[in-house]
Amino acid sequence: MLRRLTKMAWYCSGSTNTELIDNLSKAGLIENERVIEAMIGVDRAHYAPSRPYSDSPQPIGHGATISAPHMHGHACEYLIDHLKPGARVLDIGSGSGYLTHVLANLVTDAANGRWGTVVGIDHIPELTDLARANMNKSQQGKEFQDSSAVQFITGDGRLGWKEGAPYNAIHVGAAAESLHSTLIDQLGAPGRLFIPVETENNGGPGEGQYIWVVDKKGDGSVQKEKVFQVSYVPLTDAPRG
Ligand SMILES: C[S@@+](CC[C@H](N)C(=O)[O-])C[C@H]1O[C@@H](n2cnc3c(N)ncnc32)[C@H](O)[C@@H]1O
Repeated sequence: MLRRLTKMAWYCSGSTNTELIDNLSKAGLIENERVIEAMIGVDRAHYAPSRPYSDSPQPIGHGATISAPHMHGHACEYLIDHLKPGARVLDIGSGSGYLTHVLANLVTDAANGRWGTVVGIDHIPELTDLARANMNKSQQGKEFQDSSAVQFITGDGRLGWKEGAPYNAIHVGAAAESLHSTLIDQLGAPGRLFIPVETENNGGPGEGQYIWVVDKKGDGSVQKEKVFQVSYVPLTDAPRG
C-alpha cells in the first residue's frame, strides 16, 4: 500500500474517464480487475463539476468534496471480497454519489439477474438531492434508482442506517472520532467496515488519521486492523439551517 501512495497524483490524470482509470491502473494505484471495470463504468464527469479526470478531490458545493479516484479505488479494493453480486452495502458520507454508483456496479450482475443494494447516506439534504440527480445522468444510474437498488438517505451517518442492516460492506468517506461499535453492530457476519479514524491508537493528537478495516467473521467475532495513514475531512454534526 505504501508503494501505491507514493505515486504522483497528476501522473494519473486523463482526458477521458477510461484514460484516467487506465492510468491509475498502469501506475499500480488500482489493481483489481473488477474494481477497474466498475470505475470505468461510471463517468466521473457526472459527479465532479470540474477537472473530473484528474486524480484529485474536487469541490461539489455545500462545503464538501468528491474524494480522489485513487482513494475510491483503494476503498473498493479493501472491500472487494464482500462486494459480491447481491450484496448489501452502506456508503456513509455519500456526497456526490460517485462511489455509491461504483459500489452498485460491483454488487450487480445484471446479466444473471443478481442485484445488490447500496444505501448512500449524507447529512446534507442538498447533497443527497445532488447525488440522485448525478446518478440520473446515466441510464444505468437511473435504473439503479428506479429499481431501488440504490437509495440516498439524509441522516447522520455516524449512526449508520439500521433500517438496511445487516450490511456485507460499510464504507465511510469522512473521518470518525473513534472506532465505536455502532457501525460494527450493523455489519453482517461475515462483513467488513472500511473507516478513516481520527484518534484510535494513532499515538496521540496530531499524529494523523488512519484507515481501519474491521472484519466481522462468520462466527460473529470481530477483528480490527489499522492499515494506512490518510487525511479525510471529519464526520461532523449537520450544518444548521
Ligand atoms: C470527502 S466527502 C466524500 C464524499 C463522497 N464519498 C464523494 O466522493 O463524493 C465527505 C462527505 O461526508 C459527509 N458527512 C460529514 N459528516 C457526516 C455525517 N455525520 N453524516 C453523514 N455524512 C456526513 C459530508 O457532507 C461529505 O459529503
